[in-house]
Amino acid sequence: MKPSIGISTIGNGHKIFWKQISIKIGWRSNINILLFGSNGQLGQSFCRLFKKNNINFTALSKDNCDVTKNNDIERVLTDNNYDFIINASAYTNVSDAEINPDNAYKVNDVAIKNIVSLIDKDSSVFIHFSTDYVFDGKKKSPYTEEDSTNPINEYGKSKLNGEIHLEESDINYFIFRTSWVYDNKGNNFPNKIVNQAKEKKSIEVIDDQFGIPNHVDFISSSTLACLNKYNNYSATEKNKSHGIYNLSCNDQTNWFSFAKYILDGIYDKSKNQYEIKAVKSSNFKSNVKRPQHSVLSNKKIIKQFDIKIPSWQYYADKYIESFDE
Ligand SMILES: NC(=O)c1ccc[n+]([C@@H]2O[C@H](COP(=O)([O-])OP(=O)(O)OC[C@H]3O[C@@H](n4cnc5c(N)ncnc54)[C@H](OP(=O)(O)O)[C@@H]3O)[C@@H](O)[C@H]2O)c1
Repeated sequence: MKPSIGISTIGNGHKIFWKQISIKIGWRSNINILLFGSNGQLGQSFCRLFKKNNINFTALSKDNCDVTKNNDIERVLTDNNYDFIINASAYTNVSDAEINPDNAYKVNDVAIKNIVSLIDKDSSVFIHFSTDYVFDGKKKSPYTEEDSTNPINEYGKSKLNGEIHLEESDINYFIFRTSWVYDNKGNNFPNKIVNQAKEKKSIEVIDDQFGIPNHVDFISSSTLACLNKYNNYSATEKNKSHGIYNLSCNDQTNWFSFAKYILDGIYDKSKNQYEIKAVKSSNFKSNVKRPQHSVLSNKKIIKQFDIKIPSWQYYADKYIESFDE
C-alpha cells in the first residue's frame, strides 16, 4: 500500500485531514490510530514516528478538530473505531493559565470529560498525557504514581482534573505523566536559551528547581514501545495494565545545569560566546508557583512494559547534534 494523504469530507460536510500509511511488521495490519493536537511538539513527533514506521494514523490539528468543540469531537469519534486515540492536545502555557484559567480548563479538563464520554470503550484505548505539575514539588525523592497529587498552579489543577475524568470513567486508558518537554524547534526552554546565547546575552538560569527534561522523540517512541507490548498482551493482561504511568528519562537535573549542558554542547566555549549564571528562583518575579522538586520515578512503566529508558542526556546530545546538521 502506498502512503497517501488527503482531506476527506465527513459528517455534516466537515473536512478532515487524514493520512493513511501502510503497516510495519509488528503492528496488526489494520491498526488505526487517531491523534489529537497533531501540530504541538509531541503531536508532530508522533506524526514523524508513525510515518517512519508506516503506521495507520489520522492526524488532527486544532484547525481540523478543536477538542473544546463538542461537534468537532462527535464528528471524528462517532462511527469510527480507532484502536488507539492519542491526545497530544493541551493548553500548556503555564503563565497564561494563571491569568486566564478558563482557557486552560476548557482544553485540559472539560474537553477530556467530553472526549471520554464519546469513546467506544469496547474498541478504543485512550492515551493521554499529563504532567509533573500535578505535584506540589515538596517531596525530595522521585514521585511515584501512588504519591498524592497537590497542584500549586492553575495549569497543574486543570491537568489533574483531566486525569480524574479518566480515572472516574469506565474506558480503557493510559495516562502518561511527563515533565520538561522540549523539541528541536518549539518555543521551549532549551530553544530560548540557545537563542539568547546566539544573541550573546548574559543568561541567568535558576538552579533550585529540579526535574527531568524529556525530548518529544523520547515520549513518542516510548509510548509506541508500550503500545506495541500492550498489543501482544492477553485480554486479562491488557485490563490489568491500564492506568497512570510516569514516562520520564532517567537522572534528574536543574534548569541551570540543563541549560549549561545544552550550551556547552552547542557553542565553542573558547570563543566565549555566552555567559551563563546560576541564580535562585526567588530572584525571579513570576506570576506562577512552580513545583521545586518534580522528579518523576519511571520504575512502574519499566516494570510493566519492559522498555529501555535512557538518561535525559542521551536525548539532549541528539538535540545538540542537530545543530551541526
Ligand atoms: N510542554 C511541557 O513542558 C510539558 C511538561 C509536562 C507535560 N506536558 C504535557 O505533554 C503533552 C504534550 O505537550 P506539548 O509540549 O507537545 O504541548 P504543545 O506543544 O503546547 O502542543 C499542544 C497542542 O495542542 C493544541 N491545542 C490547544 N488547544 C486545542 C484545542 N482546543 N483543540 C485541539 N488542539 C488544541 C495546540 O494547538 P495551538 O498551538 O494551535 O494552540 C498545540 O498544537 C501535554 O499533555 C502537556 O500537558 C508538557
